Amino acid sequence: MTPVATVFAVRQITDLPALLRIELASFSRPWTPAMFQQAFADPHTIVLAVRDTDGTIAGFVVGRVVADELEILIVAVDPDRRRQGMGQRLVLAMLDLGREQGARAASLEVRRSNRAARRLYERLGFQREAVRQAYYQDPLEDGLIYWHRALSPS
Ligand SMILES: CC(C)(COP(=O)(O)OP(=O)(O)OC[C@H]1O[C@@H](n2cnc3c(N)ncnc32)[C@H](O)[C@@H]1OP(=O)(O)O)[C@@H](O)C(=O)NCCC(=O)NCCS
Repeated sequence: MTPVATVFAVRQITDLPALLRIELASFSRPWTPAMFQQAFADPHTIVLAVRDTDGTIAGFVVGRVVADELEILIVAVDPDRRRQGMGQRLVLAMLDLGREQGARAASLEVRRSNRAARRLYERLGFQREAVRQAYYQDPLEDGLIYWHRALSPS
């Protein structure tokens, strides 16, 4: 059987360096180790990662479920392993878990120029609902707020 990449919930602090490496390679204002540790400690926050067939972590997603809403805070895939379906798997896994935990809708924010991420979210059913003018720094840019309002009960 062909080996496949697997999505798992990150609970081990030993996985943090892999997440940080991808985070640093992906964002101009990356989360710090302390921010990740806070996320691990928060019972509402979910961190999922995808382990590639070679055993290394290829990407991760962070989300937070509050009441019946899931907010997706980060999605990032190793630059060398993009466009292989990892991002989509991660977001779908997060939507499934959020749904299991009672979320009925999901939201996220993305830079206006981030064509790759916008395409990914749109194809998974997210719709653009609002704009936050000049929300992002480095470089200054609008943030687009997307919602997925059809997370039906599982
Ligand atoms: C956005 C990101 C997570 C996508 O991850 P990925 O693993 O490359 O995405 P996938 O391979 O699952 O792509 C799924 C679909 O998304 C869209 N997509 C992904 N990358 C794209 C690109 N560079 N250009 C256009 N569409 C793209 C396509 O529709 C793609 O399907 P296809 O390959 O069949 O055409 C990745 O580019 C990344 O880590 N970017 C830097 C961090 C970031 O911007 N995160 C989002 C912040 S809100």
